[in-house]
Amino acid sequence: MLDIAILGLGYVGTTTAACLVKDGHRVLGIDINPEKIRAIGEGRSPVVEPGVEDLLQEGVRKGLVRSDNSIDAYLYELDLVIICVGTPSRADGKLDLTHLLEVSRQLGQTVKKRDPAKAPLLLVFRSTMPPGTIDRLVAPTLKAASGEEPGRLYEIAFNPEFLRESTAVKDYFSPPKIVIGEREPGLTKKLMGIYDGIEAPVFEVPFGTAEMAKMVDNSFHALKVAFANEIGRIALSKNIDPQSVADLFLADTKLNISPYYLRPGGPFGGSCLPKDLGAMLAIARDANLSVPVLSGARESNAMHLSWILQAIKRRAPAPGPVLLLGLSFKAGTDDLRNSPLLDLAELLLEGGYDLAVHDPDLDPSRLIGVNFALGVEHQNVIIDRMVDDPAEAARAAKVIVLGKTMKHLPDEILKDPRVINMNRLGLDLGEG
Ligand SMILES: NC(=O)c1ccc[n+]([C@@H]2O[C@H](COP(=O)([O-])OP(=O)(O)OC[C@H]3O[C@@H](n4cnc5c(N)ncnc54)[C@H](O)[C@@H]3O)[C@@H](O)[C@H]2O)c1
Repeated sequence: MLDIAILGLGYVGTTTAACLVKDGHRVLGIDINPEKIRAIGEGRSPVVEPGVEDLLQEGVRKGLVRSDNSIDAYLYELDLVIICVGTPSRADGKLDLTHLLEVSRQLGQTVKKRDPAKAPLLLVFRSTMPPGTIDRLVAPTLKAASGEEPGRLYEIAFNPEFLRESTAVKDYFSPPKIVIGEREPGLTKKLMGIYDGIEAPVFEVPFGTAEMAKMVDNSFHALKVAFANEIGRIALSKNIDPQSVADLFLADTKLNISPYYLRPGGPFGGSCLPKDLGAMLAIARDANLSVPVLSGARESNAMHLSWILQAIKRRAPAPGPVLLLGLSFKAGTDDLRNSPLLDLAELLLEGGYDLAVHDPDLDPSRLIGVNFALGVEHQNVIIDRMVDDPAEAARAAKVIVLGKTMKHLPDEILKDPRVINMNRLGLDLGEG
């Protein structure tokens, strides 16, 4: 059994408190709202959430629930403090971190009084916050208020909550994953005590990754809802049942509801995605439907190619030289239709780059049909810039762009620090 204080008795704090007492832990609910403090102490839930009140009442009966307006008097008995204060939206869309920083300041002053002979008090932040908040705001606030770095009197963890209101208790006991942001892997092992018996993959990651995980998940859920509704509107414009369309879409767990197409890498291209997306946009236009998610996908794709071009320019201003590995739109095909790599080659030439291109999938003499026409249109790339020996071209290059996966590339090229891998964006492509 752990002794746990919960700061902030809203939807997350109250549910967390109820679920922790169910598991036999002793909780201390803290809030600035006296009515919430009273409610929790009496086993009443201050929020409407199925199952929570029953668990709280059971906890009160067993003597596992206490509440107050400060943790000061309980400091010596606590193992963990879980911070669930609100971080509501400001008018500009940013999160209002006022409560979070106020709590951090208070906690910093409180832990000063903790006996240094005891294990550090683990401060577990659950409030949603933008990436960088722990490192840049919370940790410095704690340090300033306590006069100490983490490690001796206190330790910091960020442990986002993935529960959904109305199914929060069920979600708490069956989370999709457990994410722990910490200074170093394993530093906050005590936190795992609250997850005993819960089966879910555990990820111990730096604070920024954990902070971002929560926002990414919710952004994706929002994107899915908006996407599904746009498809529904388009289907209805053609008098097609949107639910039947959704059934077919959801039945595909190989390519649709799957990890496919979800890793940051190169822009999409080829003969199908851009064409069919364009056709969907045309249907929506004809029906006078606004579908900003779908049209945004096309815009975002073009932006992504410009972003890659900027990354190349940052590494090596024109004239480079640059070696581009790949020209067709993906490995194993010589299809040049809507190939982002062909676009990139043209942009590099326009930008005054000394460009060499190598693509083992592409034999200009075998191009046929539309691809033959593209070969003629882009002979400045396909005839003038293609090289057979990538190793030789690599020697002169300032940047090597790996545009698609490529078998039989010499190892020294793949491991070369000059490589920009468009298939898998990495930290080396960051701006600072
Ligand atoms: N609601 C959800 O479904 C959900 C799910 C996951 C994560 N989150 C995140 O968790 C956090 C809390 O969300 P919520 O919906 O429970 O918020 P909420 O507004 O319902 O509750 C926040 C509570 O914090 C209290 N508080 C403010 N300052 C305090 C202080 N100095 N000391 C003690 N208590 C203080 C408030 O009085 C309030 O009771 C937010 O960052 C939110 O984004 C929410």
